[in-house]
Amino acid sequence: MIFTPLIGLVLAALAPSAYSQDIQYDSTHNATSIVGTWSSGSQAVKTGPGFANPANMSFTYPKTTGISYSFSDDGFYEIARYRFNGNGSSPTCITGVIGWVHGTYELLGNGSIIMTPLGDGFQQVQDPCAAVSNFLEPYNITETYLQWRIFLDASAGYKLHLFQFDGAPLAPQFHVSPTPTMLPTQKLRNDSSAPAPEQTGNGVKTRNALKTNDVGSRQPWTTAIVGGAGAVAMGIASLLL
Ligand SMILES: *[C@@H]1O[C@H](CO)[C@@H](O)[C@H](O)[C@H]1NC(C)=O
Ligand SMILES: *[C@@H]1O[C@H](CO)[C@@H](O)[C@H](O)[C@H]1NC(C)=O
Ligand SMILES: *[C@@H]1O[C@H](CO)[C@@H](O)[C@H](O)[C@H]1NC(C)=O
Ligand SMILES: *[C@@H]1O[C@H](CO)[C@@H](O)[C@H](O)[C@H]1NC(C)=O
Ligand SMILES: *[C@@H]1O[C@H](CO)[C@@H](O)[C@H](O)[C@H]1NC(C)=O
Ligand SMILES: *[C@@H]1O[C@H](CO)[C@@H](O)[C@H](O)[C@H]1NC(C)=O
Repeated sequence: MIFTPLIGLVLAALAPSAYSQDIQYDSTHNATSIVGTWSSGSQAVKTGPGFANPANMSFTYPKTTGISYSFSDDGFYEIARYRFNGNGSSPTCITGVIGWVHGTYELLGNGSIIMTPLGDGFQQVQDPCAAVSNFLEPYNITETYLQWRIFLDASAGYKLHLFQFDGAPLAPQFHVSPTPTMLPTQKLRNDSSAPAPEQTGNGVKTRNALKTNDVGSRQPWTTAIVGGAGAVAMGIASLLL
């Protein structure tokens, strides 16, 4: 794990993406360490035990949607996300996505964060308007966040702001705990132990559909034929938003 050494440089402007020189972890950028567990909104979504069971690819659904990120001081991250994505053209086609992933993170000198997964991440997609309306799939995508900021809010305490690859901000997250609550920071499922494709249990189908690395574009749901299996894969770009 490499924490880029801090080099004394001029104070950067606050606006993300407005500069490219090495960042200075000053009081506006880093009011406290990023280490710990962070959670958005009503904080119903939290990393650690009680959200996901990677061994059998199951979730315990939180009461409300939200996102949660944890960072350890030895370079591991964990993400828990539960979201609904609206569909402007078909208001009844609201897609629900719940996902879990962990791995190692790197704070780059230019202020970005790279999160590299261990390979046991997974997500469940519920799309009432898709051919397969409810399925589980592996999720193993390296995520880049352009910038991060931690502010001290007088009433709410520390808040973490993450900016995605395209600069779009995620919902601000509260500092739930300065020590991270995470599942063990090792691979918790071998590929062979993933549920077999087309297995049904609670009406959930699973498949290995993720073939895209196309997280850099903001295209909406797209369908594509994957491999020779004729499986329909969805562009997962929008799931990251
Ligand atoms: C952020 O601030 C904390 C507390 O001052 C410090 O320990 C830590 O090294 C700083 N840097 C990062 C990258 O979190
Ligand atoms: C997954 O494992 C947990 C813990 O053993 C168990 O409580 C849960 O019912 C399992 N879920 C599925 C879908 O098999
Ligand atoms: C998951 O992604 C990481 C980083 O790209 C890679 O090293 C690893 O082999 C991948 N694991 C699986 C199971 O695809
Ligand atoms: C920082 O560097 C990484 C890796 O080169 C790059 O992907 C990212 O866009 C850079 N961030 C900024 C804010 O320029
Ligand atoms: C994955 O396989 C390796 C090698 O067989 C084994 O040592 C490890 O315990 C397995 N991990 C899990 C989570 O089943
Ligand atoms: C919205 O729903 C329509 C009809 O099912 C579908 O064709 C379209 O791809 C969906 N768009 C998004 C952004 O999900």
